[in-house]
Amino acid sequence: MSAVIVVHGGAWSIPEHLAEASVDGVKAAARAGSSVLLGGGSALDAVEAAVRALEDNSVFNAGHGATLNIDGEVELDAIIMDGRTLACGAVSSVKNIANPVTLARAVMEKTEHVMLTGRGANQFAESVGVAAVPPEALVSEYERKEWQKHKTYVTGVEEDFSSRWAHDTVGAVAVDRAGNVACATSTGGIRNKMVGRVGDSPVIGCGGYADNSIGAVSCTGHGESILKVTLARLILSHVEQGKSVEESSRLSLQHMADRVRGSGGSIAVSPSGEWAATFTTTRMAWAAVDQEGLWYGLDPNDRFQETLSQ
Ligand code: GLY
Repeated sequence: MSAVIVVHGGAWSIPEHLAEASVDGVKAAARAGSSVLLGGGSALDAVEAAVRALEDNSVFNAGHGATLNIDGEVELDAIIMDGRTLACGAVSSVKNIANPVTLARAVMEKTEHVMLTGRGANQFAESVGVAAVPPEALVSEYERKEWQKHKTYVTGVEEDFSSRWAHDTVGAVAVDRAGNVACATSTGGIRNKMVGRVGDSPVIGCGGYADNSIGAVSCTGHGESILKVTLARLILSHVEQGKSVEESSRLSLQHMADRVRGSGGSIAVSPSGEWAATFTTTRMAWAAVDQEGLWYGLDPNDRFQETLSQ
């Protein structure tokens, strides 16, 4: 069984000045996840490592560099799911945690619950030794300037995309040598969102889903649209019915466009190592490592390959 990891750095437009950094960032995250898998680590460890790399990179809308809400504050959401057992952990609206995906994993492994939010998530973080950072430490200079420039909310439905909106969510899916799948997704949400707004990313079956009997998916795009069609689980329902992960992703994103005028993207992997990176937005930075090497892309017809040195 060969291990595979796929990562995304978020759908939407990605202006030219962020293009190279976005591609470099997803390639680095895919390499980070892949080295976990090559070292015999689990799919769960690999998706956490990849998403942490993306959260630490202020080019992306997660962790450092996340978008700001209407009050100019960071509010972060994340999920992680283990396809072996359907165990899942999520956090929402956390303001001062640099790696929400790791806190989500702690929720999964150390509580009887699936999701913690706001103050409770922070109390739990303190109790398990996940360090808090000053909220301002997560705000990039770029995002503060963008927030000051654009005081209106971009709804995210199809006709509302523009180059002023750079990135959405980050995520990763993986299958390890034992055939176990996992997913992780992390986001700052949508700029100028209402205080307390929670999007799709931390919601099981919407921002992500993983089940060893079907596959794993991480989603990006307009959260309210993704929530309405339960995008991650919808993609896997098509896979369950015998379609490829590529066709299942395409059909589900098209359904979201037709039904609620929502745009977005997804990455998916099956237990046998079949994978796809699919989007209906202008761009989505993605990268994958499989037995043939490193694959990556940004524009709709991109599919570049590099060999990986061992
Ligand atoms: N897809 C992320 C969000 O809408 O919050």
